[in-house]
Amino acid sequence: MSFVMQPHLRVVGGGAPERDFRADLHAALSAARRSISPKYFYDARGSQLFDDICELPEYYPTRTELALLRRHAGEIAALAGPEAELVEFGAGSLRKVRLLLDELARPACYVPIDISGEHLAQAAAQLRRDYPGLAVHPVAADYTQALQLPTGPRKAGMRLGFFPGSTIGNFDPEQALRFLRMAARVLRGGALLLGADLVKDPAVLHAAYNDSAGVTAAFNLNLLARANRELGADFDLNGFAHGAFYNSPRRRIEMHLVSRRPQRVHLDGQAYLFDEGETLHTENSYKFSVDSLRALAAEAGFAPGPVWTDPNRLFSLHWLAAPA
Ligand code: AVJ
Repeated sequence: MSFVMQPHLRVVGGGAPERDFRADLHAALSAARRSISPKYFYDARGSQLFDDICELPEYYPTRTELALLRRHAGEIAALAGPEAELVEFGAGSLRKVRLLLDELARPACYVPIDISGEHLAQAAAQLRRDYPGLAVHPVAADYTQALQLPTGPRKAGMRLGFFPGSTIGNFDPEQALRFLRMAARVLRGGALLLGADLVKDPAVLHAAYNDSAGVTAAFNLNLLARANRELGADFDLNGFAHGAFYNSPRRRIEMHLVSRRPQRVHLDGQAYLFDEGETLHTENSYKFSVDSLRALAAEAGFAPGPVWTDPNRLFSLHWLAAPA
């Protein structure tokens, strides 16, 4: 799949998301320790549930990062300079970028990349209405796979990557390094503005992923509902419970779908057995220290620059320069 945006900015990525989901779910269910990528949370329903999570009283990351962006957007825009090409990875509902767009001087274009095409198209349409002069080029693609933005000479300003929300935390350390190396190459001579959630009191983390309204549980269980809808699987949603806990040696929240009883699940005529208590591991959400994030970025070739954090040190926003 290939998308032609502008002579100097083309994004290649994507593939066949449904076939990938089917193959990855079979692989997950066949493994001794079952786990699947959290990217499969984000069908239209999952993207909506994630937006609902962002509004929860217990889920501090979104509002904390928005406050950091609101507070420092002027300084960030000054670092970016005029006519920046803005590329957002895992763009979601395009809410946070507005705070940057309000301050950037004559942005050359905005390229939001997201795996949830339908949700992205709606959000992009709304953004165009709100920013009539802006060239918005949404790309429905999996940016973790074979995503390339050509690095030829440009007449616009710097290429600024935007990777908010601590989505980086979904990657294992090796995957995070691979993503950051790709980003450093794509953004060469520009910078990456990256949001990273910080290590903190495990009770605060636990509450953020076990909200009292049960929205995170619904988000997690939607993966099974999606498998039933799209792949014709027969998961009994009442047969699985939401499980989320902080794995402190590994500095990550783990989310699992926990089988409540021994049961059999079918996908494409294949039966898979779950013991009581057996889990499908659906997500990791790694937490960072300011220094650990900067060290990771440096290992990927970035020159870490200014860092902004809130007074309670819940969340961090990093300016990472991508050397030419
Ligand atoms: C979008 C990956 C940053 O890890 O906090 C929220 C996803 N999962 N609640 C996170 C999520 C459960 C979120 N990220």
